[in-house]
Amino acid sequence: MNYKDDLLNKIKLNSAKVGIIGLGYVGLPLAIEFSLKDFNVIGFDIDPKKIQILNSGRSFIKHIDSKKILTAVNDKKFFATNDFSKLVETDAVIVCVPTPLNENREPDMTFVKNTAEVIQKYIRKGQLITLESTTYPGTTEELLLPLFENPLSSHEKFLVGKDFFLAFSPEREDPNNPDFTTSTIPKVIGGVTKDCLEVTSELYNKIITRTIPVSSTRAAEATKLLENIYRSVNIALVNELKMVFDKMGIDIWEVIDAAKTKPFGFNAFYPGPGLGGHCIPIDPFYLSWKAKEFDISTKFIELAGEINTYQPYYVVEKLIDVLNTNGRSLKDSKILIVGIAYKKNVDDLRESPSLKLIEILNKKYAKVDYYDPYIPEIPKTRKYDFDLKSISLTENTLSKYEVILLSTDHDNLDYEMIHRSANLILDTRNIFERKNIISDKIFKA
Ligand SMILES: NC(=O)c1ccc[n+]([C@@H]2O[C@H](COP(=O)([O-])OP(=O)(O)OC[C@H]3O[C@@H](n4cnc5c(N)ncnc54)[C@H](O)[C@@H]3O)[C@@H](O)[C@H]2O)c1
Repeated sequence: MNYKDDLLNKIKLNSAKVGIIGLGYVGLPLAIEFSLKDFNVIGFDIDPKKIQILNSGRSFIKHIDSKKILTAVNDKKFFATNDFSKLVETDAVIVCVPTPLNENREPDMTFVKNTAEVIQKYIRKGQLITLESTTYPGTTEELLLPLFENPLSSHEKFLVGKDFFLAFSPEREDPNNPDFTTSTIPKVIGGVTKDCLEVTSELYNKIITRTIPVSSTRAAEATKLLENIYRSVNIALVNELKMVFDKMGIDIWEVIDAAKTKPFGFNAFYPGPGLGGHCIPIDPFYLSWKAKEFDISTKFIELAGEINTYQPYYVVEKLIDVLNTNGRSLKDSKILIVGIAYKKNVDDLRESPSLKLIEILNKKYAKVDYYDPYIPEIPKTRKYDFDLKSISLTENTLSKYEVILLSTDHDNLDYEMIHRSANLILDTRNIFERKNIISDKIFKA
């Protein structure tokens, strides 16, 4: 049996059944995209709540439209399940599970490992498996390949590129960016063999306008890390310059605006209260960890991590200065953090620097509240348990806080009202000046 031709044929006819493992920010848009292109999709997740919400045709992510999910469910093109035995029904399996760091800031591969072991249990000949989770170079071939070559579902060994196909294709989702969607962001693909690459490219070409083949899974894994390390290092650079220029009485925001008029050789990055999100604060350390195996220490990554990790502490130092100049101390001061999501217009607070700010301020006995239109309460996380709910933002409540600490610059906030009612403002995003709201009660951090 020629499994490659058989799979290519099914993909061409849109009759290949696609399984997506991990229905989060990455997996869910992919599942929808395939089902809207007429593929039958089974979504696998271990979270029963998500499965229930999705099967009732609703979304649990703000920027993912419920209507599309409802259409896919009603058309019987998509359903979600935690019954992994259904993996045998699929022709292509795409893995989008989390890759966080553990307490020692080392890769936590538990989710990928668990998923790989489940696939090993159900894999059958003729299947394609693609890993999308961000990870260190070598993961696909060192961690996944040996398991699938020795399936628990068969007494035979499976040969990659003949009996099954394996590839790595990193996700490049930019949540809530209206200019780019899953289907319009070019996708890099590296296969274990040439045939793996060919089959995977055919599959993604069905939903993505441009795929970019690279020579190996390692090159594809490294590409994703380069992209995120590039951001982390450049953000660290402007964060460092922000602190230096501030001492010199120079506004970093004005300098960046001027520098970006250079039509070549300069990309603008902006300072902020620290790094957030599932990617930039985490992914670079996947490479640092792996590099140690080769006796190399990744100095840029470590330095950028150090500078970016320091930012919430810097913001609190500025906050103390602002209070001091007004004859107050941080202890017992009422501080309102506006914006708790890790970036504007999303409802995602993973690794958000606002959480670190709350922790530091609590330790210094400030009285902290927060407001975020997208996050009504702060759920318990591995690291934090604040038991806080978003306050309602009115002129009256705003006036009761000594300082409004603007941490996330959501578009739909009434900045005029915040300015009118606040006693003092510490702006970490330069949003007030960008809105032409300038006054001596606004400070920057
Ligand atoms: N969020 C982004 O913008 C983004 C962008 C690019 C890359 N990535 C990468 O993609 C991967 C997934 O990220 P995400 O943001 O979608 O994470 P997420 O937490 O939103 O979603 C992951 C999903 O996987 C599920 N899951 C965990 N273990 C599972 C298992 N064993 N079997 C089945 N499901 C399981 C979780 O319940 C969750 O629903 C990560 O490696 C991340 O670094 C994320």
